[in-house]
Amino acid sequence: MFTGKRILLIVSGGIAAYKTLDLIRRLRERGAAVTPVLTRAAQEFVTPLSVSALAGEKVYRDLFDLTDEAEMGHIQLSRAADLVVVAPATANLMARMAGGLADDLASTLLLATDTPVLIAPSMNVRMWEHPATQRNLDQLRADGIAVVGPDAGDMACGEYGPGRMAEVPEILTAIAAALAGGPLAGRRIVVTSGPTHEPIDPVRYIANRSSGAQGTALARALAALGAEVVFVTGPADVPPPAGVQVVAVDTAREMLAAVQDALPADAAVFAAAVADWRVANAAAQKIKKDATGAPPALKFAQNPDILATVAGMGPGRPALVVGFAAETDEVLAHATAKRARKGCDWIVANDVSPATGIMGGTENEVTLITADGAETWPRLSKDAVATRLAARIAEALS
Ligand code: CTP
Repeated sequence: MFTGKRILLIVSGGIAAYKTLDLIRRLRERGAAVTPVLTRAAQEFVTPLSVSALAGEKVYRDLFDLTDEAEMGHIQLSRAADLVVVAPATANLMARMAGGLADDLASTLLLATDTPVLIAPSMNVRMWEHPATQRNLDQLRADGIAVVGPDAGDMACGEYGPGRMAEVPEILTAIAAALAGGPLAGRRIVVTSGPTHEPIDPVRYIANRSSGAQGTALARALAALGAEVVFVTGPADVPPPAGVQVVAVDTAREMLAAVQDALPADAAVFAAAVADWRVANAAAQKIKKDATGAPPALKFAQNPDILATVAGMGPGRPALVVGFAAETDEVLAHATAKRARKGCDWIVANDVSPATGIMGGTENEVTLITADGAETWPRLSKDAVATRLAARIAEALS
C-alpha cells in the first residue's frame, strides 16, 4: 500500500507536531517517501533538522526560496505526490484552506495541488467547537478533503474534549484508505450499530439481543472502499473496526445526538437496533424491594426515531439514507411499509425470528428494498452482506 508512494507532508504549528515525527518514521518504515513542508509556526514546535533527518529529505519552508523554485517549482512540488497530508492541521491553516488563501508555502501548495488531501486537525477544544472552525470543516469536506480525527481527550492546555490530533496508527489507516483511492474516497458515511441500553436505575437497563456484528462489518466494508466512516455504536458484543471514527453511546437519545453531530455526510446507514421505548420514570438510585413484595411500576416513553429524523431532514439530509428492518413475520410487507413510513431511500430487511439464528449469529439473509423494488440476496455471512451493501452504496453515490 505504502511502498513507492510519495507523501507531501505539511506540518503546521500545533503542539501535536511532535507526533508527526513518529508519523514520518512509520511512513518510511512502510516504504513511503516523505517530502516535508514546515510552516513558520511549525518550526517553533519541531526543528527542520529533526524533520529532515527522519524524512531523509530536504525540508521545504519558504515560498520565496529561489533555490527551491529553481530546483522544483511549488506547482510541481504540490503535484509530484500521491497524497498531501496535513498533520497537524491547525484552525488557522484550515481557515486559510477553506478560504482559498495562498499566503505561504503550505497554503500555496494546498491551493495549487490536484492531488487528494487528508488533514489531521489539532487544536484546543474551544477552537475546534467554534462555529467558524466547524463552518470551515464543512467547507473542506464539501471540497473533497478527507479528515482524520480529532480525538477527544486531555489536551496539552489542560482542558478536555475533542481537538487532540488523531494518533499515528489512525492517521496511517486514513492514509492507506486515501492512497487506495477506493470508490468511496472523500465520502463521509455515518453508520449506527449495536443495541441501545435504556436505564431503569443506575444498575439495571432494558436492551435487546443485537450484537453489533452487521453494523461493524458494514462500517469496515465502507472504510475499506475508502470512505471516512463515523461509527456511532451502542454497547455491542463485537469490537469496533479499525480505521473508523468511533462514537460510543448508551441510549437512543445519545445516539440521535451523536448522529446529528456527525452530519453532514454523503450517506447514513442505520444498522442499530434502537430501543423503541425508554423508562420514563428511571430511578436516580437503585430500586429496592419493599416489604409488600410489590414489583416496581415502570412507565415507558417512546424514543426518538433516529432514522426517520435524518431521512426527514430538509437541507443537509445525506444523499442516501439506508435503514434496516428487523421483522419476525411478513418481512417484505412490513419492510416495504417501513421504508415509506420512515422516508428512507433503502431498507435492508431481515427476518430476526429466533429460528433464523440471525440476531446474534454470523449470517444474514436480507432483502434490499429500493425505489426500484425488492431484491432478495442469498443467505450470506454478515461480512459478505456488508461487502455487497458497501459496493451498492458506492455505486449509488458515484
Ligand atoms: N431506528 C432508529 N431509531 C429508532 C428505531 C429504529 O433509527 N428509535 C432505525 C433502525 O436502526 C433501523 C430502522 O429504524 O434502521 C428500523 O428499525 P426496526 O426496529 O426494524 O423498526 P421500528 O422503528 O422499531 O418499527 P416497528 O416497531 O414497527 O418494527
